[in-house]
Amino acid sequence: MQVLVINGPNLNLLGERKPEIYGSLTLNEINKYVEDYFKNTKISFFQSNHEGEIIDKIHSASQKFVGIVLNAGAFTHYSYAIRDAIEAISIPVVEVHLSNVAKRENFRQESVIAPVCGGSISGFGKYGYVLAIRAIVHRNSSRG
Ligand code: DQA
Repeated sequence: MQVLVINGPNLNLLGERKPEIYGSLTLNEINKYVEDYFKNTKISFFQSNHEGEIIDKIHSASQKFVGIVLNAGAFTHYSYAIRDAIEAISIPVVEVHLSNVAKRENFRQESVIAPVCGGSISGFGKYGYVLAIRAIVHRNSSRG
């Protein structure tokens, strides 16, 4: 069972980018934490600042992965192209945000990808990735 974690624009700057909001860990450190958390699930990590690269990765994922965890960064709020890519594939996508977007600026209140995702997790920092992977694994191994 393999799960793909995709991080979008500016998430490569974690550690130095607004630590009061996103925490002080780098993306590599978060990925290591997530990888170490799961013993029986293989997790692949991908980060890109480019919309098209994220779309290509989503398209090719269904051949290899049982689900995708996606922190689309600011693309969350306006990328209909990423939304369409998610809608086009059959494996579940879980939306993740490190920060609680509901209590931030108005433009972060809307997610154009949420309606085509299996669910959304926001505000739990690095643990949000763990929760999202657990949701995918659970969905893959049960019918309920
Ligand atoms: C984010 C929230 C987005 O609004 C923002 O543009 C990001 C990070 C989060 O993880 O909290 O880049 O997705």
